[in-house]
Parts: sequence; structure tokens; C-alpha cells
Amino acid sequence: MVQAEIANATPEEVAEFALGSILNGGGSFPGGDKHASVDDWRALADAYHDAVRRSTQSDRAVPILWGTDAVHGHSNVYGATVFPHNIGLGAARDGDLMEAIAVATAQEVAATGIDWTFAPTLAVARDDRWGRTYESYAEHPDVAVDYASRVVTGLQGVPGEAGFLGPGRILATGKHFLGEGHTTDGRDQGDVACTEETLRDLHARGHQAAIAAGVQTVMAAFNSWHGTKVHGHRYLLSDVLKGALGFDGFVVSDWDGFLQVAEDRAEATGRSVNAGVDMLMVGVEWRAAYHDLLQQVSTGAVSMARIDDAVRRILRVKARAGLFSRPRPSRRGAVEGPGVGDPVHRKLARRAVRRSLVLLKNDGVLPLRRDIRVLVAGDGADNIGKQCGGWTLTWQGTGNDNTDFPNGTSLFDGFVQATANHGGAATLSPDGEFAQDPPDVAIVVFGEDPYAEGDGDRDHLSYSALDSEPLAILRRLQERRIPTVSVFLTGRPMWVNPELNASNAFVVAWLPGTEGGGVADVLFRGPNGKLDHDFHGRLSFSWPRHAMHTPLNVGDTDYGPLFPYGFGLRYGDAAADRPGRFDESDSARGLPASDRPRTVGSAYPR
Ligand code: BGC
Ligand code: BGC
Repeated sequence: MVQAEIANATPEEVAEFALGSILNGGGSFPGGDKHASVDDWRALADAYHDAVRRSTQSDRAVPILWGTDAVHGHSNVYGATVFPHNIGLGAARDGDLMEAIAVATAQEVAATGIDWTFAPTLAVARDDRWGRTYESYAEHPDVAVDYASRVVTGLQGVPGEAGFLGPGRILATGKHFLGEGHTTDGRDQGDVACTEETLRDLHARGHQAAIAAGVQTVMAAFNSWHGTKVHGHRYLLSDVLKGALGFDGFVVSDWDGFLQVAEDRAEATGRSVNAGVDMLMVGVEWRAAYHDLLQQVSTGAVSMARIDDAVRRILRVKARAGLFSRPRPSRRGAVEGPGVGDPVHRKLARRAVRRSLVLLKNDGVLPLRRDIRVLVAGDGADNIGKQCGGWTLTWQGTGNDNTDFPNGTSLFDGFVQATANHGGAATLSPDGEFAQDPPDVAIVVFGEDPYAEGDGDRDHLSYSALDSEPLAILRRLQERRIPTVSVFLTGRPMWVNPELNASNAFVVAWLPGTEGGGVADVLFRGPNGKLDHDFHGRLSFSWPRHAMHTPLNVGDTDYGPLFPYGFGLRYGDAAADRPGRFDESDSARGLPASDRPRTVGSAYPR
């Protein structure tokens, strides 16, 4: 029932304590090496597996289970294919694409000897100030409902059919249960004050779909509901999830989440297990968790029946995953099929990028011909780390540069490919300055720097209040009569009216991942001058009218977004939808109380 982190528990320790599971947290790798090879990952998986085997001296050893955050591809692994984050995939509204991505991700995870991913995230983010908004497919539950079954099926296969959890498949996790997208003011791990009806109709539906598709594990959520932490909420974890929803897999805690249930560690552990947590994900102090749980059983605080139930659930999942009969991790799975960073997966990721882009404005400057001179500006233009966002090689996604992505292409790489050899040229100039003749067009790539979890929480949604440089670049270019195309890298909708006004076209690229070339595929005409790829993406989050326009969700009674849920221009719309000027007078500061965010819930449409 104890899951330790690979940096804190050696194979020998895991075997000595007969731990059931290990994980690698964000930014944790074999040997602490960010550039660890696929062989290094497999060797470490074998080492844990073999140590556990050896320790029992029998063929009845309970095999170890390794979990990882493959949340947008196998994103902790050097050279892996990194797919767009969920918010971009939500904009794509493409279930087939989702299933294909899940299949590819499972293949890459299996190729490293790992059997379990902590995905999909089924959060329905309702306040975009939340730092995990980009892990959410949409503000409306329908997208999570559609995608949950496709992703779970792609990862695990179909229960009862051949190949379920067989080679190339891995265990999935529905996370986080329940309500995390609805915390007050979008505070990560905060309190959710909505009704049970809202919890059910907005937040549980994706989980329900995942369970119907056979998801084998569920991760408890860090948030509380009316003041009670979900990790200690017996009604939600046991009565609702395992009872009403019929979930027969196991519940894993979030990172030390069980410790938030009470002041005293042992008491917190016991109460969390009693509430329904079956496996304790322990950040560092796994020995303490181990002893605390034993102590709680010896005092009678936790019954043996509860332990038996938790263990039965874990063993059942391990049996379904075939762990008792399968060979060592390095010899399992996708060794035959496409592995980490396979060109087929990268092609799929590039397609996902094309499908996810949302066009907010176009006065006709797009699509671009290939035989033109393009100035490429902005600090996101040639920055694969930035375009991947959080949960990429490191937990926060910070500290990565292009050399950390041996298989990746930046957006700029794509613009070069699109123009060179076709009579044009793309020149990189981060600050937008140019020495010689003015370019025909400027593409400015800018947006949020990577973050994860609470580090991404914001007080407001103003982009230029965070970084005014891109706006300055856009305005300088427009003063010199150079048409500007903005490409916005972001984990959420933001108030960008000044930037919209300073752009002839404005494209939201979300956090596209390693295949930045997909942006050029849509911005440029094909080599023969014809349109190869039109825009496809539609907003899965409503776009704010001002910096404090949040919560803002489709179905609100006084719904008045700048761009509504489902909005996304196509090339044919360019003339008809030519917008006027957007109001620039609002900023994050000094908003009257009447303009503060409204509460949602009752207004949600059935
Ligand atoms: C996150 C989870 C993640 C876990 C393991 C937690 O902080 O909330 O989503 O799966 O860490 O890295
Ligand atoms: C994250 C882990 C990460 C750790 C770093 C946790 O909250 O989920 O993935 O490694 O924090 O302290």
C-alpha cells in the first residue's frame, strides 16, 4: 500500500520493505540524470523488479508497479514525443486523435519498462486563474466525457478483449477525484464550495466515463469540499466512487495528499486509508508512512478488513495488468512496436498541433505564401521548452532548452522549413528588430513561461501585466507597416486585447509540445499555393473580456465572453468576421466590485 519515489528508495530498500509501488515524480529520473536513456529507464525498472523477486525466494513474489506522469506523452523522458497539453487537445474536439495519442503514449511508456501512467486528467477547470487549467480539456464536461473513454481505451485496451493491458498497453489513472477545477478563486488544492449536484454534473461525469471504459486506478484530489479534504472524505472516495460509481480498481493518493487530512501524521494516514485511499503516494518519508500505517492497524484505528480490501484491490489490478506472469520490465511490451520518440508518433503529434490551433483574428494576412520573407520574433519562437510547458522533463517545465529535445522542432524550425526551398526565407530576431529591407510579414511568438500546479496560480488574466515586451514588439512592427501575426503560447485564455489590436492575425497555439512544425503547416499555404490545412480548433474555454473576467463559463446566466466557447475562425471566414478594435481600457487593477467574478453552479445548463 506504500508507493515510494525512485530518488528516495533504492531497489534494495523497496525489496526489504516489500513496497508495492514506486513512482518517478516530475523531474525525477534514473540516476538523477535528465538525459537518462531508454536503456537506463529499463535497467532501473528491472532492478526494482529483480530485487523484489529475489527477496521472497519464491515464485509468489508480488511484482512491483511503477507509475509515471506521462500526461502529454512520456514527458519525463529525454527524446520522448511530447504532445500538446490537454487544453489544446480539448480545442481539437477529436476523439480519434485522442485515442491514437493514448496508444502512442502507452507504447513509449511501455518501452521504458513502466506499466502505469497518472493520466488522463479529467478536471473541468472553471476558473482560469488556476495553475492547472491547461491540464483540463474544457470548461464544459462534455469534452472530458468524450475523451475519457478514448484515452483510457488507448492506454489500456478494451476490458474483456484480447490485448487488454497486454504488450504496448499500460494502466491509466482517472485524476483527480473530485472537483479540483472548482476551487474558490481557482486556488490550487483549495476548497470547493459547490453543491453536490454541481460536483456530480460538472466534475464526476468524466470519471464516470473513464470507469465505464475500465480505468483501473483513480487518484484522489488535493482539494477539499466544504472544508473536508477529499483525501479524508469517505463519502466521496468510498460511498460515491467505489459504491455508486462501481469503481473496482484502487485509489492512489496524490503526492503526500494523505498527510493533509490531520495534523498528526499517523492519524492523517489512518483517516485517509479509512476514507478509501488504497495506496499512499509518498513524496519522501515513505518509512514514516509505512510505520504509521502499521501503528494505525495495531491501535485498531484502521481495521484489517480495510487493509484486506485495499490490498485486494491493488492485487486485482496487478493481476489484470498481467504483472504476475509477465517477464522483466525490459522484456515486456512495446519492445516490438514503435518506441520513444518514434517518427510515427512525432507525425501524430504534429497533426495534433495542427488540429489544436485556434484562430481568433485574421484580417486576411493568413494564410501565408511560402515565397515571402518572414521575420520571426518573440521569446517563444525558438524555444521548445516554452512551447512544451510544465510537466516536461522537469516538474515545472523550467530549465529546459532546445538541446534537451533531440527529436523536437521549434516553431521557428517549422517556419524555416516552410519558406526555405520555396523561394522565401525566415529570419529569427527575438526582439523584432531588422537591419536590411523590411520583411513581408512578422510572426511574433510569445506567451506564458512554463509552470505546474500551484506555481501557475494567478490573481488575474492580464497577459501584458505579466510581460509587456511582446506588445511593444508588435506595436513597433505595425508602426513600420509590417503585417503582424501573433502566435500565443498559453496554458489558459488570457486578456490580450492590446495584443489583438496590434496583430493582423492572432493564433492561439496553447502548449503544443515538441512538434512545433505543426504551426507552420497551418499558417502557410502548401508548396503549390493551395490550402493544405485550414484551422480546425475551437475554444474549449471561454475567452475573457477583461483581466478579472473569471469564472467565465458557457451556460452562465449573464454569459458575455469576448470569444465564446466553441469559437474558432476558418480561412473562409476572414472577410466576414473582420473584427473592429477591442476595448483596451480594462486592466487587472482597480476593477469595481461589481466586476468581480460571479459564482457558477446553479446556472449550469442541463
Ligand atoms: C500531482 C499529480 C501527480 C503527482 C506525481 C502531484 O503533485 O498533483 O497530478 O500525478 O504529483 O507526480
Ligand atoms: C510533484 C512531483 C514533484 C515534486 C517536487 C510534487 O508536488 O507532483 O512530481 O517532483 O512536487 O517537490
